[in-house]
Amino acid sequence: MARKKFYVTTPIYYPNDIPHVGHAYTTIVGDVIARGHKLKGEDVFYLTGTDEHGKKIETAAKKKTKNPKEFVDELVPEFKNAWKKLNIDYDRFIRTTEKDHEKVVLKILQKVFDKGDIYLGEYEGLYCTGCEAYYTERDLVDGCCPIHKTKAEKLKEKSYFFKLSKYKKKLLKLYKDNPNFILPKFRVKEIINRLEDLQDLSISRTSFNWGIKLPFDNKHISYVWFDALLNYLTGVGYLKDDKKFSKFWPADLHIVAKDIMWFHVVIWPTMLMSAGIKLPKTIFVHGYWTFNKKKISKSRGKVINVNELISITGNVDSIRYFLLRETPFGDDGDFSEQALIDRHNNELANKLGNLVSRVSGLIEKFGISKSAPKGVPLDMQDGVFGGKNKLLKKLNEAKIEKLFENYEFDKVLNEIFSFIDICNEYVQNKKPWETRDKKVLYELKESILKIADLLWPFIPESAEKIKKQFSATKIKKSEILFKKI
Ligand code: MSP
Repeated sequence: MARKKFYVTTPIYYPNDIPHVGHAYTTIVGDVIARGHKLKGEDVFYLTGTDEHGKKIETAAKKKTKNPKEFVDELVPEFKNAWKKLNIDYDRFIRTTEKDHEKVVLKILQKVFDKGDIYLGEYEGLYCTGCEAYYTERDLVDGCCPIHKTKAEKLKEKSYFFKLSKYKKKLLKLYKDNPNFILPKFRVKEIINRLEDLQDLSISRTSFNWGIKLPFDNKHISYVWFDALLNYLTGVGYLKDDKKFSKFWPADLHIVAKDIMWFHVVIWPTMLMSAGIKLPKTIFVHGYWTFNKKKISKSRGKVINVNELISITGNVDSIRYFLLRETPFGDDGDFSEQALIDRHNNELANKLGNLVSRVSGLIEKFGISKSAPKGVPLDMQDGVFGGKNKLLKKLNEAKIEKLFENYEFDKVLNEIFSFIDICNEYVQNKKPWETRDKKVLYELKESILKIADLLWPFIPESAEKIKKQFSATKIKKSEILFKKI
């Protein structure tokens, strides 16, 4: 039987500045999900990258008196380095300035045009460059963008339009027939309300020129979102590698935050419908992080970039752990250094670190039963061997798997850490340093190996260390995994 596949993506980020904790969050969650599916033996493709065209990038480049390509070329390594530091194991880092992507954009624009879904019109509207989107008067707050709080600019230009409004019924049917298309489910209502006055979408620009020229009118460049969304096709070989594309498409999961939900659950599926391409299975919309209760923003508030983030505990795994443990995936969260340090100390160091160092120390000292006692049939063995580990039995793996499938990562971690508590109590109660009971130590070792497996998607570096240590022929007391702060 062919192996199951899983294709997961993050948004492609604007490389107009270095990545911060918000970008790191989405990319870490993507990595955790990708690793979780790898652990199940699936063929996984994990895509992330950068969104390099559009006015936002052009303006940022101008400020630095650079041309846009030069400008993004300098920022892209910042993203790649950040992801490397955070142990992100992606399969491709896509850049929308890459040739294969441009080809895809041209092809889809032509397809949608040939279908009769694109027409020339005139657009006058209020534009927020920060969002790269037009707003209606109604959406603005005192004439300002609700997200960036900056004044929306009045723009008027000849523009090609995509017949988005024609797809309203199809979208409603899509949400109804596929209850997992938008997750968490509470987001659906908001979208359905907004569909009420669904307008056609302006998909070309003439007021600047950093973008991909329309194949049917080279005086216009493609709207950056029409270009960017298509990265999900390019990323798995659309028009380039049929085998790969047919294996991985449709995407199983697009991860986005609520700021760009509309583009992913309304515009994106409609583009695909028009082009006659299968739709992704799920768009998971997560919440927004604040930093000490303040918006993460360069202009108004505090930005915490990836290097600053790592330097708080000096341990990448504690960041990965914290971000997934602190708030339910889907909700908003608040980041604070103290909260991170607390979880690092109280959970990773005191619970996990303590268990690992204590048990490895005891095993080093007293030895361990290595195999089943001779001549005793498996089902007669007393609670140690042959899957009859009494301690391990207290772990509800099926529940953990279910929680993971439901994207309830905070609960997954909670469940694993409850089992870690049980293991620590087991050591305390059984007192193997007095009894020198090698079976107890064996049970603990097996349990710790299991814990390492389950934690691997979240804290891969520490999990691998634990696995290596406890699989060795001679188990030795470990170096400290999480130094207390
Ligand atoms: N380029 C577009 C996405 C195109 S996808 C086809 C874009 N880029 S962005 O750089 O602004 O990144 C937005 C994404 O970054 C959010 O959807 C989210 O994944 C992540 N986050 C940015 N700030 C965040 C927080 N404060 N909190 C949580 N996630 C945040 O939009």
